[in-house]
Amino acid sequence: MSGRIPQDFIDDLVQRADIVEVVGSRVPLTKAGREYKARCPFHSEKTPSFWVSPQKGFYHCFGCGAHGTALGFLMEFERLDFPVAVEELARSVGVEVPHNDSERLSTEPLLTMLEKAAHLYRQALRDHPAAVGYLKARGLDGETAREFGIGYAPAGWDTLLATLGTTETDRQHLLAAGLVIARDTGGFYDRFRERIMFPIRDTRGRVIAFGGRIIASGEPKYLNSPETPLFHKGRELYGLYEARRAERTLERVLVVEGYMDVVMLAAHGIHYAAGTLGTATTTEHLRRLFGITGEIVFCFDGDRAGRDAAWRALQTSLPLLQDGRQIRFLLLPDNEDPDSLVRREGAEAFTRRIGTSMPLSGFMIDSLTRDLNLDSLADKARLAALAKPLLVQLPAGVYRELLTEELAHRVGLPRNRLEALMTDGNTQTRAHEQKPAQRSQRPVRPQDAANRRGSLSRQAISLLLHYPDIACQIPLPDPLRAAELRGLELLRELHELARSKPGVGTAAVLERFRGRSELPHLAQLLAEEQLIGANEAPAEFADCLERLVSAAMQHELAALLQEAGQRTLSGEELSRLTDLQRTVVASRGTVSRSRDN
Ligand code: UTP
Ligand code: MN
Repeated sequence: MSGRIPQDFIDDLVQRADIVEVVGSRVPLTKAGREYKARCPFHSEKTPSFWVSPQKGFYHCFGCGAHGTALGFLMEFERLDFPVAVEELARSVGVEVPHNDSERLSTEPLLTMLEKAAHLYRQALRDHPAAVGYLKARGLDGETAREFGIGYAPAGWDTLLATLGTTETDRQHLLAAGLVIARDTGGFYDRFRERIMFPIRDTRGRVIAFGGRIIASGEPKYLNSPETPLFHKGRELYGLYEARRAERTLERVLVVEGYMDVVMLAAHGIHYAAGTLGTATTTEHLRRLFGITGEIVFCFDGDRAGRDAAWRALQTSLPLLQDGRQIRFLLLPDNEDPDSLVRREGAEAFTRRIGTSMPLSGFMIDSLTRDLNLDSLADKARLAALAKPLLVQLPAGVYRELLTEELAHRVGLPRNRLEALMTDGNTQTRAHEQKPAQRSQRPVRPQDAANRRGSLSRQAISLLLHYPDIACQIPLPDPLRAAELRGLELLRELHELARSKPGVGTAAVLERFRGRSELPHLAQLLAEEQLIGANEAPAEFADCLERLVSAAMQHELAALLQEAGQRTLSGEELSRLTDLQRTVVASRGTVSRSRDN
């Protein structure tokens, strides 16, 4: 991404750039309290919903969701590539961009390690009847397991380490490949233990990461490799390599959520599915998919979470919908995923479902009109207002024409009346009068607001993002270094980043996440009002961490107790269990507060 421009330089540049000047010299800004607002340059609107925060070095549009730093703004507004935008920004700040050729880290040894690990996991699968039994019970045949290179990571802390990590160099490579984790006390341990292992391959078929499913009960159900020089979650799709190998041409690709969905569809002869690895669909995913196929079918659960995921996928897709590209939505019945459904119904019925899936236009209009009564003129106007920010994101072309036409039909108005309604911003003004923090990023979907409940890690991440320097004052407690709770991985990454760069600002942190699937979440946190001031932030952060520690310990305790019910614990595990029980009991008072994690 940053190519040969040193990261430190980019951090400093983004920090030094004056976002108000960069944006303000291109778009007229009005001061509003500590921030500035404007009519959004990225979608057409009458009343301003585009905000620029000089403190955070960040802009955000509450209408269309556009967001970024000064650098991102230049890229979007001027349509510049990253290196060109860096040059441009550097020029405006008055500094020279240094270039650095020696920074290139060789990924060869990491690939070798990953390949060896995949081999070892495959062999281990043969030696562990319980793991084979699990896969058989789920209906997986040997041929498909081989096609996907599925393996098993046995119990024990050093299965990989003992075989592949005999020299310090090898251990460093294992670490960089995400296969082992460093202990605070020195040394390492295997990241994946007692899990069915799904190798994630790049377009050339090289293993670049793994996903591991637990076979006993426990959490997390799936553990993925962390971000490494080879693996960026927001870019990879599980099973795409296998799909391209199985099918000569990919007429369409089915985007599903899970590893098992991809594998079980393949087992039933549907070899054109790819999985998003538990993250939201990113622009990068879509670009890659449209590079090899003309049609994407999003296949999500029919429940609220699935519908929300589909809606987000729709929003991400809009700008990419050039003529000749198609997007459809296949919403599954309640409590089914592609895996369960194809097993129950068979491939033929499943393929029929794909054939009758909803085109993007239908899905969009249905979603927008779900809470509206189109007999009322007010709601017709509302629909027009809701559709507008979406329509403007479509590239001009057949698709946009068709959608406008279809909307007009649904609203029951001639197209020119509809277009007139769309240019009349009245229906949106109420939303824009509210304070930014109270507005949802996408005013389109009221139910989204319900999903924004703050978890402990979310709170900690938000504090770190707003005040990166607290990372230098407050270290991460040891128990949080390896604990497996939702959001912790991101928290650790942010904390390490902020700690390794004292004085790094919010914008520089954000810039480091360019192209990553976490970026929209971080932008969302920044767009919300941070009610905790800089002075109280460290204490608040420390408190958050303390509560996270209790949550993590309870979590580990529960997992160990469950294990104890199924097998005899080792001496080490037993003493850990007693330790945990003692601590958790001793801190009951704090523990009860952490239930919301
Ligand atoms: P689901 O929870 O829907 O599970 O997660 P699933 O795919 O149906 O799994 P099975 O059938 O119980 O084995 C969907 C996807 O989200 C990611 C994984 O990629 C998973 O396949 N995920 C889920 C994680 O990364 N971590 C988790 O703890 C859970
Ligand atoms: Mn499933």
